Amino acid sequence: MTHDGLDGVVVAETCLSDVDGERGRLVIRGHDVEALVERADFEATCGLLWTGELPGPAEHAELRRALGRARVRAFARVRGFAQALQASDGMEALRGALAQLRASEIPELELRTELVAAVAVFAAAWARTRRGAPPLAPDPSLGHAADYLRMASAHGSDPARSRALDAYLVTAADHGMNASTFTARVVASTDSDTVSAVVAALGSLKGPRHGGAPGPVLAMLDAIGAPENAAAWIAAELDAGRRIMGMGHRVYRVRDPRAAVLERAVERLRGAGLRSDRLDLARAVERVAVASLGERRPERRLAANVEFSTAVLLDAIGLPQELFSPTFAVARMAGWLAHIDEQRQSSRIIRPGSRYVGPLPETPVAA
Ligand code: COA
Repeated sequence: MTHDGLDGVVVAETCLSDVDGERGRLVIRGHDVEALVERADFEATCGLLWTGELPGPAEHAELRRALGRARVRAFARVRGFAQALQASDGMEALRGALAQLRASEIPELELRTELVAAVAVFAAAWARTRRGAPPLAPDPSLGHAADYLRMASAHGSDPARSRALDAYLVTAADHGMNASTFTARVVASTDSDTVSAVVAALGSLKGPRHGGAPGPVLAMLDAIGAPENAAAWIAAELDAGRRIMGMGHRVYRVRDPRAAVLERAVERLRGAGLRSDRLDLARAVERVAVASLGERRPERRLAANVEFSTAVLLDAIGLPQELFSPTFAVARMAGWLAHIDEQRQSSRIIRPGSRYVGPLPETPVAA
């Protein structure tokens, strides 16, 4: 039984995740995302995606240690990647740094932890370099979310913020045959190497219609400023033919279930005493955007997608806007790697067709 992108062409069978766009349900290897985020941290989610089972305590501890060691190894490479990390765009910096890894030089068994660790370490190093500060070395004793937050933000590994980031990493780890995952699978299907597949996927994630949306969502909330300005601001954007960031989805025809999961994580942060005025503003803007889009495009059923709440959550935990897309890559790397492995089990190259609508030669087809 499949739901994911039913209006699209089915290019693979997968055990990894399923998106039911009509009902607003995301299942990750047998777990509803709402339940998974309560049961599993990011390490456990990696274990689930890569093996099919949530790891037991011993396996979980080993995965956590392996990721910690891999972050330390990734950090040792950072100095050599100084030029890539000078890029003004975080996704370009990540692309440049990851592209310098060589799959052939990393033992096969370590490749997944190596890449999950590397993307977090490189993203954090880029953020610090951008602020004019030297990159901060990993603390391998911490969980992946807490250590990424410590390396990337100015707030250390504060437990409430780390839990919220962990909820984000779990929620964003995999999502059916989205554009970047498809890209990774296409590259893997040619029998190319894993580093090439994830670098290609990163290029796909970079676009504002995919992983580039949360930064512009925050910019939109800042531009609107207060709930009473939302209606006029949104009307002006739509009149100008621009899209409202964080709204609409290729598969969901209802609100993205991940938006509610992340909203709950922000609520918990507020429960722990952290302020997030943007949550109330975001809710007001979402109400107005849904109503305006519903009036203009009643047949499309445009609702909020995950990026709406992502922007609020990542801002509330103190990550700068320019790290939003790289942080998406930190989460999604886990899913890409699971899909790359799954794709390799099929020996078929992904080679979709196209409908030719160009000019025909004058010579008639030979009978
Ligand atoms: N704001 C305004 N109009 C939107 C819209 C949005 N966020 N999303 C879709 N539409 C409109 C399009 O303008 C288009 O109108 P048209 O038929 O007059 O050209 C129509 O709905 C269909 O758009 P299309 O791009 O074909 O739909 P899609 O389902 O393939 O698009 C997205 C999915 C995510 C690319 C799209 O909704 C979008 O660009 N959203 C904003 C970016 C975003 O939040 N991305 C993060 C995704 S998780």
